[in-house]
Amino acid sequence: MASLTVRKLDDDLKARLRVRAARNGRSVEDEVRTILREAGEDAGPPPAPDVAAGPAVPSVAPRITLIIGGGIAAYKALDLIRRLKERGPEVRVILTRAAQQFVTPLAASALAHTPCHTDLFDPRSEFDAGHIRLARGCDLVVVAPATADLMAKMANGLADDLASAVLLATDRPVLLAPAMNPAMWTNAATRRNVARLKQDGVHLVGPSAGEMAEANEAGVGRMSEPTEIALAAMTLLKPAATPLKGRRVLITAGPTHEPIDPVRYIANRSSGKQGFAIAAAAARAGAEVTLVSGPVGLADPADVNVVRVESAREMLAKVEAALPADAAIFAAAVADWRVAGAAAQKIKKTVDGLPDLKLAENPDILATIAKRGEGRPRLVVGFAAETENLIAHARAKLMRKGCDWIVANDVSPASGVMGGDRNVIHILMRDSEEVESWPAMSKQEVADRLVARIAQSLQ
Ligand code: CTP
Repeated sequence: MASLTVRKLDDDLKARLRVRAARNGRSVEDEVRTILREAGEDAGPPPAPDVAAGPAVPSVAPRITLIIGGGIAAYKALDLIRRLKERGPEVRVILTRAAQQFVTPLAASALAHTPCHTDLFDPRSEFDAGHIRLARGCDLVVVAPATADLMAKMANGLADDLASAVLLATDRPVLLAPAMNPAMWTNAATRRNVARLKQDGVHLVGPSAGEMAEANEAGVGRMSEPTEIALAAMTLLKPAATPLKGRRVLITAGPTHEPIDPVRYIANRSSGKQGFAIAAAAARAGAEVTLVSGPVGLADPADVNVVRVESAREMLAKVEAALPADAAIFAAAVADWRVAGAAAQKIKKTVDGLPDLKLAENPDILATIAKRGEGRPRLVVGFAAETENLIAHARAKLMRKGCDWIVANDVSPASGVMGGDRNVIHILMRDSEEVESWPAMSKQEVADRLVARIAQSLQ
């Protein structure tokens, strides 16, 4: 039975079916399936399949309901349909009314190879509560772009259009790919909604930092790239192996800011992307993850306990508070010095010359933890970001800091690693002379492979 053509039944039968389906909390199609299944059970085993008629086995491809929200990033959702389909799932698309200002139902239907849905009160699909089918007859619901408005509706349980009704009715995992102006993303209302949605078990991918569609606007709010969203969706559909289940992993990321006065600070250049990617990968691998991060423009990765700090001393305190851990990965670009006795008021320019700033050395967080006796994590991993003599400097750091591994990377301006999305790394281990060099790959792939290596070494 390829599909059910309930529509062709006479009105009286349809009405009786609807009442029966409503009473049982099922869609009409599901009700028909139940009746047929029960009838089949009464009638004994089904006849042997007619081999000539082709396989009788229904498609086992996972099914995704993709909701496209109304934002400029909707054009990327068209590419997302292709990225999802090329990985195997069937994709059914819902366009909100606002989304149709950016992409057409025809384009979405053509790419999905099935008519898309736009209207909660569409008589062609709603005669049997089609929104329930879209909500439950799938393995995953993806919302891309997830606008501030859609997220607010979701967080508050509103259901005044097809997209929000499906989101309220679904009992399947939901993945949101938020996209909005940075001011909307940081607005207190959105923060509240995001926190509530996470609490409700909704998964998020992105948003990332970058240029906005609006002229001269940048910040966190860009929708993740379609390949990243597809990867996150596939991970949810096929939960990855969890080799770090039961392990605690601690990660530092980002720069630290060392105040000179209330408005000025010393800092290193660091986007935090690599540390955040490692935290996300460790969480996907089943670990209980604490990420202590300096100031960065990145959203909290899913299922990670993120502790935001400013200075190196604060970072050390939070790292110590997060112990014990099985593995600790120090990816932060910690400022080596702070200003001794930072001014309580803004330092004013005077005619007498330059301010007399005295520097004091910051604690070395990695060395402090690596050299701990009691409570030292079993595996302590440092990073060495160098602009020259990469391997020699990294080897010296490995010895000096007392860690088990050093992940070395070339951050010279020509490498494009700083702030970029790709990385070339080399791993040096305390008890081996060899250097393990990996080819250039995305920071996300580096994170996945590194986490796999860590899991292996903790076994
Ligand atoms: N690190 C740290 N605390 C510091 C300085 C560095 O935890 N105060 C950690 C970094 O997170 C990284 C490793 O030490 O894992 C190496 O950091 P890097 O800045 O490359 O080394 P430095 O010790 O600062 O040495 P140098 O500046 O001379 O290269």
